[in-house]
Amino acid sequence: MDLHSYSRPDHVAVTHLALDLELDFARREVRGVARLDLARAEQMGEAHLTLDTQGLVIEGVSGSDGTSRVFTVDPVAQDPASQGLGQPLRIQLAPSDQAVRVRWRTTGLADALQWLEPAQTAGAVAPFLYTQGQAILTRTWIPLQDSPGVRITWEARVHAPEGMEVVMSAERRWREPDGAYCFAMTRPVPSYLIALAAGRIVFQELGTRCGVWAEPETLAVAASEFVDTEAMIAAAEQLFGAYRWGRYDLLVLPPSFPFGGMENPCLTFATPTILAGDKSLVSLVAHELAHSWSGNLVTNATWRDFWLNEGFTVYFEHRIMEAVYGCERAQMERALSKTDLLREMHAMDARDTVLYIDLEGRHPDDGFSLVPYVKGCLFLMRLEELVGRARFDVFLREWFDGHAFTSVTTAVLLQEIRTRLLTPQEASQVDFAAWIEGAGLPADVPHPHSDAFVGVDAQVAALRQSGPASVAHLSVRDWTTHHWLHFLETLEPTLTLAWMEALEARFRLMATGNSEILALWLRLGVAQGWSAVDGPLEAFLMQVGRRKFLKPLYAELAKSPAGKQRALALYRRARPRYHAVSTTTLDELLGYTA
Ligand code: BES
Ligand code: ZN
Repeated sequence: MDLHSYSRPDHVAVTHLALDLELDFARREVRGVARLDLARAEQMGEAHLTLDTQGLVIEGVSGSDGTSRVFTVDPVAQDPASQGLGQPLRIQLAPSDQAVRVRWRTTGLADALQWLEPAQTAGAVAPFLYTQGQAILTRTWIPLQDSPGVRITWEARVHAPEGMEVVMSAERRWREPDGAYCFAMTRPVPSYLIALAAGRIVFQELGTRCGVWAEPETLAVAASEFVDTEAMIAAAEQLFGAYRWGRYDLLVLPPSFPFGGMENPCLTFATPTILAGDKSLVSLVAHELAHSWSGNLVTNATWRDFWLNEGFTVYFEHRIMEAVYGCERAQMERALSKTDLLREMHAMDARDTVLYIDLEGRHPDDGFSLVPYVKGCLFLMRLEELVGRARFDVFLREWFDGHAFTSVTTAVLLQEIRTRLLTPQEASQVDFAAWIEGAGLPADVPHPHSDAFVGVDAQVAALRQSGPASVAHLSVRDWTTHHWLHFLETLEPTLTLAWMEALEARFRLMATGNSEILALWLRLGVAQGWSAVDGPLEAFLMQVGRRKFLKPLYAELAKSPAGKQRALALYRRARPRYHAVSTTTLDELLGYTA
Protein backbone atom coordinates (compact mmCIF):
# COMPACT_ATOMS: atom_id res chain seq x y z
CA MET A 1 0.00 0.00 0.00
CA ASP A 2 1.51 3.30 -1.15
CA LEU A 3 0.36 6.23 1.00
CA HIS A 4 1.60 8.68 -1.61
CA SER A 5 -0.38 7.60 -4.64
CA TYR A 6 -4.10 7.61 -5.37
CA SER A 7 -3.69 4.90 -8.01
CA ARG A 8 -5.07 1.41 -7.51
CA PRO A 9 -2.85 -0.86 -9.59
CA ASP A 10 -4.51 -3.83 -7.89
CA HIS A 11 -7.67 -2.91 -9.86
CA VAL A 12 -6.24 -1.61 -13.10
CA ALA A 13 -2.51 -1.25 -13.71
CA VAL A 14 -0.81 0.78 -16.42
CA THR A 15 1.81 -1.38 -18.15
CA HIS A 16 3.09 0.84 -20.94
CA LEU A 17 3.07 4.55 -21.69
CA ALA A 18 3.42 6.08 -25.16
CA LEU A 19 4.06 9.81 -24.83
CA ASP A 20 3.79 12.54 -27.40
CA LEU A 21 5.13 15.76 -25.94
CA GLU A 22 5.48 19.32 -27.08
CA LEU A 23 7.82 21.61 -25.18
CA ASP A 24 6.54 25.17 -25.37
CA PHE A 25 9.25 27.44 -23.99
CA ALA A 26 7.33 30.63 -24.71
CA ARG A 27 4.38 29.56 -22.56
CA ARG A 28 6.51 27.47 -20.20
CA GLU A 29 4.15 24.62 -20.76
CA VAL A 30 4.40 20.98 -21.79
CA ARG A 31 1.48 19.71 -23.84
CA GLY A 32 1.06 15.98 -24.02
CA VAL A 33 -0.95 13.15 -25.38
CA ALA A 34 -0.35 9.73 -23.89
CA ARG A 35 -1.63 6.28 -24.60
CA LEU A 36 -1.61 4.22 -21.43
CA ASP A 37 -1.89 0.44 -21.92
CA LEU A 38 -3.76 -1.34 -19.17
CA ALA A 39 -3.74 -4.65 -17.33
CA ARG A 40 -7.12 -5.18 -15.70
CA ALA A 41 -7.51 -7.44 -12.70
CA GLU A 42 -10.76 -8.84 -14.07
CA GLN A 43 -13.14 -7.73 -16.74
CA MET A 44 -15.66 -6.09 -14.49
CA GLY A 45 -18.65 -4.52 -16.25
CA GLU A 46 -17.64 -1.08 -15.10
CA ALA A 47 -14.29 -0.07 -13.74
CA HIS A 48 -12.24 3.00 -13.00
CA LEU A 49 -8.66 3.77 -13.80
CA THR A 50 -7.16 6.17 -11.27
CA LEU A 51 -4.13 8.23 -12.21
CA ASP A 52 -2.09 10.69 -10.17
CA THR A 53 -1.98 14.25 -11.42
CA GLN A 54 -0.99 17.53 -9.85
CA GLY A 55 -1.80 20.90 -11.33
CA LEU A 56 -2.41 19.38 -14.78
CA VAL A 57 -5.20 20.55 -17.07
CA ILE A 58 -6.80 17.40 -18.46
CA GLU A 59 -8.18 18.28 -21.88
CA GLY A 60 -9.71 14.97 -22.88
CA VAL A 61 -9.75 11.21 -22.36
CA SER A 62 -10.71 8.51 -24.82
CA GLY A 63 -10.89 4.72 -24.72
CA SER A 64 -9.63 1.90 -26.94
CA ASP A 65 -12.22 2.65 -29.63
CA GLY A 66 -11.31 6.31 -29.81
CA THR A 67 -14.53 7.61 -28.27
CA SER A 68 -14.36 9.80 -25.22
CA ARG A 69 -14.57 8.57 -21.64
CA VAL A 70 -16.09 10.26 -18.64
CA PHE A 71 -13.49 11.45 -16.15
CA THR A 72 -13.26 13.49 -12.98
CA VAL A 73 -10.39 15.36 -11.38
CA ASP A 74 -10.69 15.89 -7.65
CA PRO A 75 -10.43 19.44 -6.35
CA VAL A 76 -7.20 20.43 -4.62
CA ALA A 77 -7.26 18.87 -1.15
CA GLN A 78 -7.15 21.30 1.75
CA ASP A 79 -5.91 19.07 4.58
CA PRO A 80 -2.16 19.32 5.23
CA ALA A 81 -1.70 15.55 5.05
CA SER A 82 -2.69 15.55 1.37
CA GLN A 83 -0.44 18.43 0.35
CA GLY A 84 1.74 17.43 -2.55
CA LEU A 85 -0.27 14.34 -3.43
CA GLY A 86 -2.21 16.19 -6.11
CA GLN A 87 -5.60 15.44 -7.61
CA PRO A 88 -6.61 11.91 -8.60
CA LEU A 89 -7.90 11.61 -12.17
CA ARG A 90 -10.63 8.96 -12.31
CA ILE A 91 -11.51 7.57 -15.69
CA GLN A 92 -14.59 5.46 -16.33
CA LEU A 93 -13.49 2.53 -18.47
CA ALA A 94 -15.64 0.64 -20.96
CA PRO A 95 -15.48 -3.15 -20.55
CA SER A 96 -13.40 -3.49 -23.71
CA ASP A 97 -10.85 -0.76 -22.91
CA GLN A 98 -7.33 -2.11 -23.02
CA ALA A 99 -5.87 1.38 -23.24
CA VAL A 100 -6.82 4.99 -22.72
CA ARG A 101 -5.59 8.15 -24.36
CA VAL A 102 -5.21 11.27 -22.24
CA ARG A 103 -4.55 14.79 -23.51
CA TRP A 104 -3.26 17.41 -21.08
CA ARG A 105 -1.11 20.43 -20.50
CA THR A 106 1.04 21.45 -17.56
CA THR A 107 0.61 24.63 -15.55
CA GLY A 108 2.77 26.82 -13.35
CA LEU A 109 2.20 24.19 -10.65
CA ALA A 110 4.44 21.68 -12.44
CA ASP A 111 7.04 21.36 -9.69
CA ALA A 112 8.98 18.72 -11.65
CA LEU A 113 9.87 21.23 -14.34
CA GLN A 114 12.39 24.00 -14.23
CA TRP A 115 12.39 26.38 -17.16
CA LEU A 116 15.65 28.32 -17.15
CA GLU A 117 16.37 31.70 -18.68
CA PRO A 118 19.44 31.78 -20.93
CA ALA A 119 21.23 33.76 -18.19
CA GLN A 120 20.95 30.73 -15.89
CA THR A 121 23.02 28.58 -18.24
CA ALA A 122 26.76 28.50 -18.93
CA GLY A 123 26.36 29.77 -22.49
CA ALA A 124 23.73 32.38 -21.64
CA VAL A 125 22.33 32.15 -25.16
CA ALA A 126 19.49 29.60 -25.01
CA PRO A 127 16.83 28.62 -22.50
CA PHE A 128 16.92 25.23 -20.82
CA LEU A 129 14.33 22.83 -19.43
CA TYR A 130 14.83 19.83 -17.19
CA THR A 131 12.59 17.62 -15.07
CA GLN A 132 13.06 16.04 -11.64
CA GLY A 133 10.62 13.23 -10.88
CA GLN A 134 11.66 11.73 -7.56
CA ALA A 135 9.88 11.36 -5.27
CA ILE A 136 6.32 12.29 -6.37
CA LEU A 137 6.80 15.02 -8.94
CA THR A 138 6.30 13.06 -12.16
CA ARG A 139 2.54 13.53 -11.66
CA THR A 140 3.07 17.28 -12.07
CA TRP A 141 4.00 16.86 -15.73
CA ILE A 142 2.59 13.44 -16.77
CA PRO A 143 -0.69 11.85 -15.64
CA LEU A 144 0.18 8.31 -14.54
CA GLN A 145 0.26 5.88 -11.64
CA ASP A 146 2.96 7.69 -9.71
CA SER A 147 4.03 4.99 -7.31
CA PRO A 148 7.45 3.29 -7.14
CA GLY A 149 5.57 0.00 -6.80
CA VAL A 150 4.17 0.32 -10.34
CA ARG A 151 6.58 -0.38 -13.20
CA ILE A 152 5.98 0.49 -16.82
CA THR A 153 7.81 0.42 -20.10
CA TRP A 154 7.50 3.64 -22.07
CA GLU A 155 8.30 5.45 -25.29
CA ALA A 156 8.23 9.11 -26.21
CA ARG A 157 8.16 11.46 -29.19
CA VAL A 158 9.21 14.96 -28.24
CA HIS A 159 8.79 18.17 -30.21
CA ALA A 160 11.11 20.96 -29.14
CA PRO A 161 11.98 24.33 -30.65
CA GLU A 162 14.35 24.32 -33.60
CA GLY A 163 18.02 23.95 -32.66
CA MET A 164 17.35 22.50 -29.25
CA GLU A 165 18.70 19.09 -28.24
CA VAL A 166 16.44 16.78 -26.22
CA VAL A 167 17.57 13.92 -23.98
CA MET A 168 15.57 11.47 -21.88
CA SER A 169 16.19 8.70 -19.36
CA ALA A 170 15.92 5.99 -21.99
CA GLU A 171 17.42 4.63 -25.15
CA ARG A 172 17.73 7.28 -27.89
CA ARG A 173 16.00 6.24 -31.08
CA TRP A 174 15.72 8.21 -34.29
CA ARG A 175 14.60 11.69 -35.20
CA GLU A 176 11.42 11.85 -37.21
CA PRO A 177 11.12 13.84 -40.43
CA ASP A 178 9.28 16.60 -38.54
CA GLY A 179 12.23 16.87 -36.13
CA ALA A 180 10.67 14.99 -33.21
CA TYR A 181 13.12 13.16 -30.95
CA CYS A 182 12.21 9.54 -30.16
CA PHE A 183 13.09 7.53 -27.07
CA ALA A 184 12.22 4.10 -25.73
CA MET A 185 12.54 2.46 -22.33
CA THR A 186 12.05 -1.25 -22.94
CA ARG A 187 12.68 -2.32 -19.33
CA PRO A 188 9.95 -1.72 -16.76
CA VAL A 189 10.74 1.27 -14.54
CA PRO A 190 8.94 3.19 -11.80
CA SER A 191 7.47 6.56 -12.80
CA TYR A 192 9.94 8.66 -10.79
CA LEU A 193 12.66 7.63 -13.22
CA ILE A 194 11.09 9.28 -16.28
CA ALA A 195 13.13 12.38 -17.00
CA LEU A 196 13.75 14.87 -19.77
CA ALA A 197 16.08 17.76 -20.48
CA ALA A 198 16.22 20.14 -23.41
CA GLY A 199 18.65 22.89 -24.20
CA ARG A 200 21.85 23.76 -25.96
CA ILE A 201 23.78 20.61 -25.08
CA VAL A 202 26.37 18.52 -26.86
CA PHE A 203 27.80 15.06 -26.37
CA GLN A 204 31.25 13.57 -25.91
CA GLU A 205 32.02 9.89 -25.71
CA LEU A 206 33.88 8.58 -22.67
CA GLY A 207 33.92 4.90 -23.62
CA THR A 208 32.07 2.44 -25.79
CA ARG A 209 28.93 2.55 -23.69
CA CYS A 210 29.25 5.82 -21.78
CA GLY A 211 29.53 9.50 -22.48
CA VAL A 212 28.67 12.94 -21.23
CA TRP A 213 26.19 15.62 -22.30
CA ALA A 214 26.79 19.20 -21.31
CA GLU A 215 26.67 22.73 -22.59
CA PRO A 216 29.57 23.33 -25.01
CA GLU A 217 31.21 25.62 -22.44
CA THR A 218 31.28 22.81 -19.87
CA LEU A 219 31.82 19.73 -21.99
CA ALA A 220 35.62 19.44 -21.95
CA VAL A 221 35.85 19.97 -18.20
CA ALA A 222 33.08 17.44 -17.61
CA ALA A 223 34.64 14.85 -19.91
CA SER A 224 37.97 15.04 -18.13
CA GLU A 225 36.35 14.92 -14.67
CA PHE A 226 34.42 11.79 -15.67
CA VAL A 227 37.17 9.88 -17.51
CA ASP A 228 36.94 7.00 -15.05
CA THR A 229 33.27 6.28 -15.75
CA GLU A 230 33.92 3.15 -17.81
CA ALA A 231 36.24 1.85 -15.07
CA MET A 232 33.47 2.44 -12.54
CA ILE A 233 30.94 0.52 -14.64
CA ALA A 234 33.39 -2.35 -15.02
CA ALA A 235 34.06 -2.37 -11.27
CA ALA A 236 30.35 -2.32 -10.49
CA GLU A 237 29.67 -5.23 -12.85
CA GLN A 238 32.50 -7.19 -11.30
CA LEU A 239 30.90 -6.71 -7.91
CA PHE A 240 27.19 -7.16 -8.46
CA GLY A 241 26.48 -8.37 -11.98
CA ALA A 242 25.91 -7.09 -15.50
CA TYR A 243 24.87 -3.50 -16.19
CA ARG A 244 21.44 -4.03 -17.69
CA TRP A 245 20.54 -0.66 -19.16
CA GLY A 246 22.54 -0.50 -22.37
CA ARG A 247 24.27 2.90 -22.23
CA TYR A 248 25.33 4.88 -19.18
CA ASP A 249 25.57 8.58 -19.97
CA LEU A 250 25.81 11.64 -17.75
CA LEU A 251 24.13 14.99 -18.25
CA VAL A 252 25.67 18.02 -16.56
CA LEU A 253 22.90 20.45 -15.73
CA PRO A 254 23.02 24.16 -15.03
CA PRO A 255 23.90 25.00 -11.40
CA SER A 256 20.30 25.41 -10.28
CA PHE A 257 19.82 21.62 -10.35
CA PRO A 258 18.54 20.89 -6.82
CA PHE A 259 20.40 17.62 -6.27
CA GLY A 260 23.95 16.46 -6.55
CA GLY A 261 22.80 13.76 -8.89
CA MET A 262 19.72 11.88 -10.00
CA GLU A 263 19.95 8.31 -11.22
CA ASN A 264 17.71 8.64 -14.28
CA PRO A 265 18.16 5.37 -16.22
CA CYS A 266 20.72 5.45 -19.03
CA LEU A 267 21.32 9.12 -18.20
CA THR A 268 22.40 10.32 -14.77
CA PHE A 269 21.59 13.98 -14.17
CA ALA A 270 24.39 15.77 -12.31
CA THR A 271 25.11 19.16 -10.78
CA PRO A 272 28.06 21.09 -12.22
CA THR A 273 29.22 21.67 -8.63
CA ILE A 274 31.00 18.30 -8.73
CA LEU A 275 33.34 19.51 -11.48
CA ALA A 276 36.21 20.22 -9.10
CA GLY A 277 38.95 19.67 -11.68
CA ASP A 278 40.66 16.86 -9.77
CA LYS A 279 38.01 14.08 -9.68
CA SER A 280 37.71 14.65 -5.93
CA LEU A 281 33.90 14.63 -6.02
CA VAL A 282 33.28 11.79 -8.47
CA SER A 283 31.92 9.52 -5.77
CA LEU A 284 28.68 11.09 -6.92
CA VAL A 285 29.08 9.30 -10.25
CA ALA A 286 29.76 6.04 -8.41
CA HIS A 287 26.61 6.70 -6.39
CA GLU A 288 24.29 7.40 -9.30
CA LEU A 289 25.80 4.52 -11.27
CA ALA A 290 25.24 2.18 -8.31
CA HIS A 291 21.54 3.07 -8.47
CA SER A 292 21.47 1.20 -11.79
CA TRP A 293 21.32 -1.86 -9.49
CA SER A 294 20.02 -0.54 -6.16
CA GLY A 295 17.02 1.61 -7.00
CA ASN A 296 16.50 1.26 -10.71
CA LEU A 297 16.78 -2.54 -11.02
CA VAL A 298 15.50 -3.30 -7.50
CA THR A 299 13.29 -0.44 -6.38
CA ASN A 300 11.81 0.65 -3.06
CA ALA A 301 8.15 -0.41 -3.20
CA THR A 302 7.01 2.68 -1.27
CA TRP A 303 8.75 5.82 -0.01
CA ARG A 304 8.79 4.23 3.43
CA ASP A 305 11.30 1.79 1.98
CA PHE A 306 13.46 4.61 0.57
CA TRP A 307 16.41 3.43 2.67
CA LEU A 308 16.54 0.30 0.48
CA ASN A 309 17.35 2.56 -2.47
CA GLU A 310 19.80 4.88 -0.77
CA GLY A 311 21.37 2.70 1.92
CA PHE A 312 22.29 0.00 -0.60
CA THR A 313 23.49 2.66 -3.01
CA VAL A 314 25.81 4.35 -0.53
CA TYR A 315 27.23 0.96 0.44
CA PHE A 316 27.71 0.09 -3.25
CA GLU A 317 29.12 3.56 -4.02
CA HIS A 318 31.90 3.03 -1.45
CA ARG A 319 32.66 -0.38 -2.95
CA ILE A 320 33.00 1.10 -6.43
CA MET A 321 35.24 3.89 -5.08
CA GLU A 322 37.37 1.32 -3.30
CA ALA A 323 37.75 -0.76 -6.47
CA VAL A 324 38.65 2.20 -8.69
CA TYR A 325 40.56 4.54 -6.33
CA GLY A 326 41.69 2.28 -3.51
CA CYS A 327 40.90 1.56 0.12
CA GLU A 328 42.26 4.75 1.60
CA ARG A 329 39.95 7.03 -0.35
CA ALA A 330 36.95 4.80 0.22
CA GLN A 331 37.66 4.70 3.96
CA MET A 332 37.92 8.49 4.11
CA GLU A 333 34.56 8.74 2.37
CA ARG A 334 32.99 6.21 4.72
CA ALA A 335 34.33 8.09 7.74
CA LEU A 336 33.20 11.48 6.43
CA SER A 337 29.71 10.24 5.73
CA LYS A 338 29.36 8.86 9.24
CA THR A 339 30.52 12.16 10.74
CA ASP A 340 27.97 13.99 8.60
CA LEU A 341 25.25 11.61 9.74
CA LEU A 342 26.08 12.13 13.40
CA ARG A 343 26.04 15.89 13.01
CA GLU A 344 22.73 15.86 11.17
CA MET A 345 21.04 13.39 13.53
CA HIS A 346 21.93 15.55 16.46
CA ALA A 347 19.42 18.16 15.34
CA MET A 348 16.69 15.74 14.21
CA ASP A 349 13.45 14.50 15.73
CA ALA A 350 13.99 10.95 16.99
CA ARG A 351 11.11 9.63 14.86
CA ASP A 352 12.93 10.81 11.72
CA THR A 353 16.06 8.83 12.56
CA VAL A 354 14.27 5.51 11.93
CA LEU A 355 15.19 3.59 8.76
CA TYR A 356 11.70 2.23 8.19
CA ILE A 357 10.17 5.64 8.76
CA ASP A 358 6.47 6.15 9.39
CA LEU A 359 5.25 8.57 6.71
CA GLU A 360 1.54 8.43 7.53
CA GLY A 361 0.16 11.91 6.85
CA ARG A 362 3.58 13.14 5.72
CA HIS A 363 5.25 13.91 2.41
CA PRO A 364 8.01 11.55 1.16
CA ASP A 365 10.40 14.49 1.37
CA ASP A 366 9.90 14.53 5.15
CA GLY A 367 11.81 11.24 5.21
CA PHE A 368 14.74 12.72 3.30
CA SER A 369 17.89 13.01 5.38
CA LEU A 370 21.23 11.25 5.74
CA VAL A 371 19.49 8.55 7.80
CA PRO A 372 18.26 6.37 4.89
CA TYR A 373 21.62 6.96 3.19
CA VAL A 374 24.22 6.51 5.86
CA LYS A 375 22.44 4.60 8.61
CA GLY A 376 21.20 2.32 5.83
CA CYS A 377 24.76 1.82 4.61
CA LEU A 378 26.03 1.24 8.16
CA PHE A 379 23.43 -1.51 8.60
CA LEU A 380 24.76 -3.27 5.51
CA MET A 381 28.35 -2.76 6.72
CA ARG A 382 27.32 -4.40 10.00
CA LEU A 383 26.04 -7.45 8.11
CA GLU A 384 29.21 -7.53 6.04
CA GLU A 385 31.30 -7.43 9.22
CA LEU A 386 29.33 -10.34 10.61
CA VAL A 387 29.50 -12.74 7.66
CA GLY A 388 32.58 -11.50 5.83
CA ARG A 389 32.77 -9.85 2.44
CA ALA A 390 32.71 -13.03 0.36
CA ARG A 391 29.39 -14.24 1.70
CA PHE A 392 27.89 -10.77 1.75
CA ASP A 393 28.78 -10.18 -1.90
CA VAL A 394 27.09 -13.43 -2.94
CA PHE A 395 23.99 -12.34 -1.04
CA LEU A 396 23.91 -8.92 -2.67
CA ARG A 397 24.41 -10.31 -6.15
CA GLU A 398 21.53 -12.73 -5.61
CA TRP A 399 19.43 -9.90 -4.20
CA PHE A 400 19.85 -7.84 -7.39
CA ASP A 401 19.38 -10.84 -9.70
CA GLY A 402 16.47 -12.33 -7.80
CA HIS A 403 14.53 -9.06 -7.67
CA ALA A 404 15.60 -7.51 -10.96
CA PHE A 405 12.97 -5.16 -12.41
CA THR A 406 10.71 -5.47 -9.38
CA SER A 407 9.88 -3.24 -6.42
CA VAL A 408 10.62 -4.58 -2.95
CA THR A 409 9.71 -3.86 0.65
CA THR A 410 11.77 -3.76 3.82
CA ALA A 411 9.98 -6.91 5.00
CA VAL A 412 11.18 -8.85 1.95
CA LEU A 413 14.76 -7.82 2.61
CA LEU A 414 14.61 -8.79 6.28
CA GLN A 415 13.12 -12.15 5.36
CA GLU A 416 15.95 -12.83 2.92
CA ILE A 417 18.62 -11.73 5.35
CA ARG A 418 17.27 -14.30 7.80
CA THR A 419 16.79 -17.11 5.31
CA ARG A 420 19.58 -16.61 2.78
CA LEU A 421 22.36 -14.70 4.52
CA LEU A 422 22.55 -15.41 8.24
CA THR A 423 22.57 -18.58 10.29
CA PRO A 424 20.17 -18.44 13.26
CA GLN A 425 23.21 -18.04 15.50
CA GLU A 426 24.40 -15.02 13.47
CA ALA A 427 20.92 -13.56 13.27
CA SER A 428 20.75 -13.55 17.05
CA GLN A 429 23.72 -11.16 17.10
CA VAL A 430 21.94 -8.39 15.20
CA ASP A 431 19.24 -6.34 16.85
CA PHE A 432 17.06 -5.97 13.75
CA ALA A 433 14.34 -4.09 15.59
CA ALA A 434 16.88 -1.48 16.73
CA TRP A 435 18.37 -1.11 13.26
CA ILE A 436 15.17 -0.99 11.26
CA GLU A 437 12.55 0.47 13.59
CA GLY A 438 14.63 2.09 16.29
CA ALA A 439 15.74 5.72 16.52
CA GLY A 440 19.41 6.74 16.47
CA LEU A 441 22.28 4.33 16.01
CA PRO A 442 22.39 0.85 17.59
CA ALA A 443 25.26 -0.12 19.88
CA ASP A 444 26.84 -2.36 17.23
CA VAL A 445 27.19 0.42 14.65
CA PRO A 446 30.41 0.03 12.63
CA HIS A 447 33.20 2.58 13.03
CA PRO A 448 34.74 3.25 9.66
CA HIS A 449 38.32 4.11 10.46
CA SER A 450 40.64 6.19 8.30
CA ASP A 451 44.38 6.19 8.98
CA ALA A 452 44.71 9.32 6.88
CA PHE A 453 42.42 11.18 9.26
CA VAL A 454 44.41 10.15 12.31
CA GLY A 455 47.26 12.29 10.97
CA VAL A 456 44.88 15.23 10.48
CA ASP A 457 43.51 14.80 13.99
CA ALA A 458 47.02 14.96 15.44
CA GLN A 459 47.66 18.23 13.65
CA VAL A 460 44.37 19.69 14.81
CA ALA A 461 45.24 18.80 18.41
CA ALA A 462 48.64 20.48 18.07
CA LEU A 463 47.13 23.57 16.47
CA ARG A 464 44.61 23.95 19.25
CA GLN A 465 47.46 23.93 21.77
CA SER A 466 49.35 26.74 20.10
CA GLY A 467 46.67 29.03 18.64
CA PRO A 468 45.86 30.62 15.27
CA ALA A 469 49.41 31.81 14.58
CA SER A 470 50.49 28.19 14.28
CA VAL A 471 48.44 27.83 11.08
CA ALA A 472 51.76 28.74 9.45
CA HIS A 473 53.13 25.37 10.55
CA LEU A 474 50.24 23.29 9.36
CA SER A 475 51.53 20.69 6.96
CA VAL A 476 49.00 20.17 4.19
CA ARG A 477 51.23 18.52 1.62
CA ASP A 478 49.32 15.70 -0.09
CA TRP A 479 46.07 16.79 1.46
CA THR A 480 43.07 15.93 -0.68
CA THR A 481 39.58 17.43 -0.54
CA HIS A 482 38.74 14.72 1.96
CA HIS A 483 41.54 15.75 4.34
CA TRP A 484 40.37 19.34 4.14
CA LEU A 485 36.77 18.47 4.86
CA HIS A 486 37.76 16.33 7.80
CA PHE A 487 40.14 19.02 9.04
CA LEU A 488 37.52 21.78 8.97
CA GLU A 489 34.83 19.61 10.51
CA THR A 490 37.17 18.56 13.30
CA LEU A 491 38.30 22.10 13.96
CA GLU A 492 34.76 23.49 13.88
CA PRO A 493 33.88 23.25 17.60
CA THR A 494 36.80 25.50 18.58
CA LEU A 495 36.87 27.67 15.48
CA THR A 496 36.97 31.45 15.95
CA LEU A 497 37.27 34.42 13.62
CA ALA A 498 41.00 34.57 14.31
CA TRP A 499 41.38 30.99 13.14
CA MET A 500 39.38 31.61 10.02
CA GLU A 501 41.39 34.70 9.13
CA ALA A 502 44.66 32.87 9.64
CA LEU A 503 43.52 29.95 7.51
CA GLU A 504 42.14 32.24 4.81
CA ALA A 505 45.33 34.28 4.70
CA ARG A 506 47.41 31.19 4.07
CA PHE A 507 45.07 28.96 2.02
CA ARG A 508 42.55 31.27 0.29
CA LEU A 509 39.71 28.82 0.83
CA MET A 510 37.19 31.41 -0.28
CA ALA A 511 38.69 31.12 -3.76
CA THR A 512 38.61 27.33 -3.93
CA GLY A 513 36.98 25.76 -6.95
CA ASN A 514 35.82 22.90 -4.78
CA SER A 515 32.15 23.38 -3.96
CA GLU A 516 32.15 21.07 -0.93
CA ILE A 517 35.02 22.92 0.72
CA LEU A 518 33.60 26.31 -0.26
CA ALA A 519 30.10 25.59 1.04
CA LEU A 520 31.53 24.38 4.34
CA TRP A 521 33.90 27.34 4.63
CA LEU A 522 31.09 29.78 3.91
CA ARG A 523 28.86 28.16 6.53
CA LEU A 524 31.64 28.34 9.11
CA GLY A 525 32.18 31.99 8.19
CA VAL A 526 28.50 32.81 8.57
CA ALA A 527 28.51 31.09 11.96
CA GLN A 528 31.38 33.38 13.04
CA GLY A 529 29.60 36.47 11.72
CA TRP A 530 32.59 37.04 9.45
CA SER A 531 31.86 39.89 7.03
CA ALA A 532 34.47 38.66 4.54
CA VAL A 533 32.13 35.87 3.50
CA ASP A 534 29.32 38.22 2.48
CA GLY A 535 30.36 38.69 -1.13
CA PRO A 536 31.29 35.06 -1.90
CA LEU A 537 28.20 33.86 -0.03
CA GLU A 538 25.89 36.05 -2.05
CA ALA A 539 27.56 34.99 -5.30
CA PHE A 540 27.18 31.33 -4.30
CA LEU A 541 23.52 31.62 -3.30
CA MET A 542 22.63 33.47 -6.48
CA GLN A 543 24.31 30.86 -8.63
CA VAL A 544 23.90 27.44 -7.05
CA GLY A 545 20.53 25.79 -6.45
CA ARG A 546 21.73 22.54 -4.90
CA ARG A 547 19.57 22.01 -1.82
CA LYS A 548 22.28 20.21 0.14
CA PHE A 549 24.36 23.43 0.09
CA LEU A 550 21.54 25.96 0.34
CA LYS A 551 19.81 24.49 3.36
CA PRO A 552 22.71 24.68 5.83
CA LEU A 553 23.79 28.11 4.56
CA TYR A 554 20.35 29.69 4.91
CA ALA A 555 19.79 27.87 8.22
CA GLU A 556 23.08 29.22 9.61
CA LEU A 557 22.20 32.75 8.48
CA ALA A 558 18.74 32.49 10.01
CA LYS A 559 20.07 31.71 13.47
CA SER A 560 20.15 35.37 14.51
CA PRO A 561 17.28 37.83 13.98
CA ALA A 562 19.46 40.15 11.87
CA GLY A 563 20.81 37.20 9.91
CA LYS A 564 17.28 35.99 9.29
CA GLN A 565 16.41 39.33 7.69
CA ARG A 566 19.48 39.07 5.48
CA ALA A 567 18.64 35.48 4.62
CA LEU A 568 15.13 36.48 3.59
CA ALA A 569 16.39 39.41 1.54
CA LEU A 570 18.91 37.20 -0.26
CA TYR A 571 16.34 34.45 -0.68
CA ARG A 572 13.77 36.79 -2.17
CA ARG A 573 16.26 37.63 -4.93
CA ALA A 574 17.63 34.13 -5.45
CA ARG A 575 14.36 32.20 -5.19
CA PRO A 576 13.25 32.66 -8.84
CA ARG A 577 16.46 30.87 -9.83
CA TYR A 578 15.87 27.76 -7.73
CA HIS A 579 13.98 24.58 -8.61
CA ALA A 580 10.74 23.84 -6.70
CA VAL A 581 12.49 21.03 -4.79
CA SER A 582 14.74 23.62 -3.16
CA THR A 583 12.14 26.39 -2.73
CA THR A 584 9.70 24.00 -1.03
CA THR A 585 12.35 23.19 1.58
CA LEU A 586 13.61 26.77 1.93
CA ASP A 587 10.16 28.40 2.06
CA GLU A 588 9.47 26.30 5.12
CA LEU A 589 12.91 26.80 6.65
CA LEU A 590 12.71 30.58 6.36
CA GLY A 591 8.96 30.97 6.84
CA TYR A 592 8.86 32.62 3.43
CA THR A 593 5.57 33.83 2.01
CA ALA A 594 5.32 35.61 -1.32
N1 BES B 1 18.03 9.66 -5.80
C1 BES B 1 18.83 10.62 -5.13
C2 BES B 1 18.26 12.00 -5.18
C3 BES B 1 16.85 12.13 -4.64
C4 BES B 1 16.48 11.50 -3.47
C5 BES B 1 15.93 12.92 -5.29
C6 BES B 1 15.17 11.65 -2.99
C7 BES B 1 14.65 13.07 -4.80
C8 BES B 1 14.27 12.42 -3.65
C9 BES B 1 20.25 10.63 -5.64
O1 BES B 1 20.73 9.37 -5.98
C10 BES B 1 21.13 11.10 -4.52
O2 BES B 1 21.16 10.45 -3.52
N2 BES B 1 21.84 12.20 -4.70
C11 BES B 1 22.76 12.73 -3.73
C12 BES B 1 24.15 12.39 -4.10
C13 BES B 1 24.86 11.43 -3.31
C14 BES B 1 26.28 11.23 -3.71
C15 BES B 1 24.55 11.13 -1.92
C16 BES B 1 22.65 14.24 -3.76
O3 BES B 1 21.90 14.76 -4.59
O4 BES B 1 23.31 14.90 -2.99
ZN1 ZN C 1 20.98 8.15 -4.25
